[in-house]
Amino acid sequence: MVIKSAEYLISSPSWDKCPKPAWPEYAFIGRSNVGKSSLINILANNEKLAKTSGTPGKTQMINHFVINESWYLVDLPGYGFAKRSMSQRRQWEQMIEQYLRNRPNLVTIFVLIDSRHEPQKIDIDFINQLGEWNVPFSLVFTKADKSTQAEVSRNVKMFLNKMRETWEFLPPHFITSTVKKSGRDAILGYIEELNAQFRAIA
Ligand code: GTP
Ligand code: MG
Repeated sequence: MVIKSAEYLISSPSWDKCPKPAWPEYAFIGRSNVGKSSLINILANNEKLAKTSGTPGKTQMINHFVINESWYLVDLPGYGFAKRSMSQRRQWEQMIEQYLRNRPNLVTIFVLIDSRHEPQKIDIDFINQLGEWNVPFSLVFTKADKSTQAEVSRNVKMFLNKMRETWEFLPPHFITSTVKKSGRDAILGYIEELNAQFRAIA
């Protein structure tokens, strides 16, 4: 897919303040600092679109970006940020749950997993929660440039095996590096396919 335009639209504190659900929407979620905002920028071909940071907890609201004037990319705040208080965490959980369960045009979400690590409980728990809520998702293993290809493959395999313990079918998965700009075409191709399905149903 060719990206002709990518524009920031709005940051919303809750799902009911989000823009009109007129277009197909794809949201990016995962542990704080995993690379959500960086990946959005690579997909959109604009390094300044979503705010990134070396310090976890940068993204705080539900951020909508309009791509090609026909679909939305959404940057969400991450989970597992140690410096948040209990009440802030609960606020995050509520905001995310309500957004994920009430947004009618949300086609799928991309759950980002740091490819440098073996399966982490926090990611598995979040994914199992998605299952309970019936939210469709795919997996994106990020920062593939930071370890060897063999290590990345091993961690991806371990993660998928862990999922097989509770999931009958595995979702699509992608491996990305924003440094090498790898994985971009595969994700955009997948979104293009889903956009076509969304329009066929609508
Ligand atoms: P929060 O908004 O805080 O939840 O973080 P985030 O998930 O949006 O992460 P962000 O995109 O801000 O990236 C966090 C850090 O990881 C930044 O320093 C990025 O430059 C770095 N980073 C992200 N993706 C990659 C990658 O593929 N490779 C490498 N080497 N660094 C990456
Ligand atoms: Mg971010």
